[in-house]
Amino acid sequence: MFVALPGGAVALVFRRKKRYSYILIARMKVFVIIPAAGLGTRMAAVPREKPLKPVATKQFTELDGVPVLVRTLAKFAENSDVSAIYIALRASEIEPFRARLQGDFPEIYAKNPVLVKGGEQRQASVANALAQIAAAPDDVVLVHDAVRPLVTDEMIHTVVQAAGRYGAAIVGVPAVDTVKQVERTAEGAVVRATIPRQQVVLAQTPQGFRYDVLKKAFDEASADGFTGTDEASLVERSGHEVAVVMGSPRNIKITNPADFELAEFYLKHS
Ligand code: C5P
Repeated sequence: MFVALPGGAVALVFRRKKRYSYILIARMKVFVIIPAAGLGTRMAAVPREKPLKPVATKQFTELDGVPVLVRTLAKFAENSDVSAIYIALRASEIEPFRARLQGDFPEIYAKNPVLVKGGEQRQASVANALAQIAAAPDDVVLVHDAVRPLVTDEMIHTVVQAAGRYGAAIVGVPAVDTVKQVERTAEGAVVRATIPRQQVVLAQTPQGFRYDVLKKAFDEASADGFTGTDEASLVERSGHEVAVVMGSPRNIKITNPADFELAEFYLKHS
């Protein structure tokens, strides 16, 4: 009988002469990168009651008393598939965040999340974290937005399994609205084409990759000066197929102030 152990290992348990024995089988490790070095300009642009007070970026804004980033981090810290977590932060936020974790969330701090310096763009933040990871080619690297605290254990597990199997996998949700390709104009935009809805999914995170697949994609993007808005776009252009598994409309990316109200609602009704 195989028994899954925390941290991605598996034990083969067997009975011999009325005694149980086990053999530990090393399995792929799962590394998680959480890019959290964004400035959250779409949030900061909203008028505040006290404009002189520094505006908390969306990953540090509290959701029912706990910063969004901590809620997201907790989901991975408590997940038995996960071996190690890397968080990319702005340099000035690394030590304050470490102190906050140590003081207020000791159970998460005890998992030793690695705090690394983020970059100018999301892709650079992920690249900095990836550079710190010593993984085997078959290990899995998950990337998850700091501002998606409603990710579930089931989603994490499904992406890990699919990434191990196919080399690259993302969570996505079907488009319910009709999707238009547009051209931006001074007044707004005009429609140039309608993209059949069946051919579209909206990409969420977590996105998971075999380490060798992701490393190759990042190296090629860096050599070509390509910048994408998610990790899958780098892997696609590197020629590797990316599988899609079911996400959830609840797995929202907190972007605008109204998203906080929705996230609070989902938290209360989860
Ligand atoms: O700004 P955007 O919605 O693309 O942010 C997605 C995620 O990427 C957020 O968790 C944000 O903190 C992170 N990010 C980052 N470094 C940047 C910009 C965004 O880690 N330079």
